[in-house]
Amino acid sequence: MSEAPVSTLDFARRRAAYINALGPRACAILTSPPEARRNGDVTFPFRPSSDLYYLTGFGEPDTVLVVRPGATSEETVLFVRPRDPEREVWDGRRAGTDGAIADYGIAASYPIAELCERLPGLMTGFDEVHYTTGVDPDFDARLLAMLANLRARERKGGKAPRRIVDHVATLHEMRLIKQPEEIALLRTAAAITAEAHLAAMKLAAPGISEHQLEAVIDYTFRRRGGVGPGYPSIVGSGDNTTILHYIENSATVGDGDLVLIDAGCEVAFYTADVTRTYPATGQFSGPQRAIYEVVLDAQIAAIDMTRPGLTLDAIHEACTRKLVAGMIDLGLLSGSVDERLADDSYKKFYMHRTSHWLGMDVHDAGSYLSDGGEPRPLAPGMVITIEPGIYVARDAENVPDAFRGIGVRIEDDLLITETGVENLTAAIPKTVADLEAACRAP
Ligand code: GLY
Ligand code: MN
Ligand code: MN
Repeated sequence: MSEAPVSTLDFARRRAAYINALGPRACAILTSPPEARRNGDVTFPFRPSSDLYYLTGFGEPDTVLVVRPGATSEETVLFVRPRDPEREVWDGRRAGTDGAIADYGIAASYPIAELCERLPGLMTGFDEVHYTTGVDPDFDARLLAMLANLRARERKGGKAPRRIVDHVATLHEMRLIKQPEEIALLRTAAAITAEAHLAAMKLAAPGISEHQLEAVIDYTFRRRGGVGPGYPSIVGSGDNTTILHYIENSATVGDGDLVLIDAGCEVAFYTADVTRTYPATGQFSGPQRAIYEVVLDAQIAAIDMTRPGLTLDAIHEACTRKLVAGMIDLGLLSGSVDERLADDSYKKFYMHRTSHWLGMDVHDAGSYLSDGGEPRPLAPGMVITIEPGIYVARDAENVPDAFRGIGVRIEDDLLITETGVENLTAAIPKTVADLEAACRAP
């Protein structure tokens, strides 16, 4: 079903900026997939591609956007499912070609069935086609065949594009720097996410199922106007806290277990990404608290150092150094920090990076490297996560028994400002005292 645009003007401004970034010699093709079959004749809930939605606000399946800078007509073209009153009775409304023009401000629109016939002509004369390869192999093959065909016919006039270029240097640079209206949506996503994590903290107790905790998270997201989780919620207790992307969420919380919840609400296609870890009983055991405080100190130090000009690599290195020092103090590792950093043995307990871009996608678009291949400096308007953790698997070798089966991750969402950072998810408890109080709250 079509989503009403947040604001047609907003998307028009984005398209104008994108056309400017492409320059006059490049056209672009952006696709949103057909619906995916779940089982039988049931499909998964549809989510448009973030790139296409970012430029159009158009949320239907089976859509292709063509952007043609400088074209005197049809500078933007949207191929869509045509209106079909009979199908719409069953599956919901469609904007159709008229709606794509009238409601979404696109210059021209055609039925998706006309794509193969019209696309070669729309690309002719441009040097480059900006397009993401490797996501839809069928479309890749069709596009390559069209380009080969255009090349073969060049002698009749009409230059074929010479290069296929990734979106990373143009569209994804735009998506990386969030505009005020995007930051407003991320703030709303963060506020709803805060309420959901607090609701789960109140509910968490030995005997409850991870599934019920997931349900209260989902319920809070949707009751407050979010579309739901922006990625599958991770709700792990006990040993499950040591599985990074545990999404079964099917165990019963045991007495003395930690609960780790990594869940973020999606609001109008922008998602939060937050993790909190806390004791189901409302009181950390000694070993749980010892690990928790190492992770918390590293996370707070990483947030405190973050500012424009710094790189995610520098944050990761500083954070990892603190975590490794803590692991040595706890007896999880021995020797010196430099030795353990050098031999990577800490990766048994901390095997992921500290940060990633956040926005429409939980691991959002945007290059992590500058043009020269160096880690790029942070700049105002970027949104990142900071999410250190320590995970001691039940069967980890050569570790004190008391730490087995303890996984801790603490994750917040940070907006890079002119002078430092704003923690968008600061309202969610994370000190030991605040967490224990939130877990015991009636
Ligand atoms: N929720 C996935 C991540 O934290 O990166
Ligand atoms: Mn994350
Ligand atoms: Mn996360």
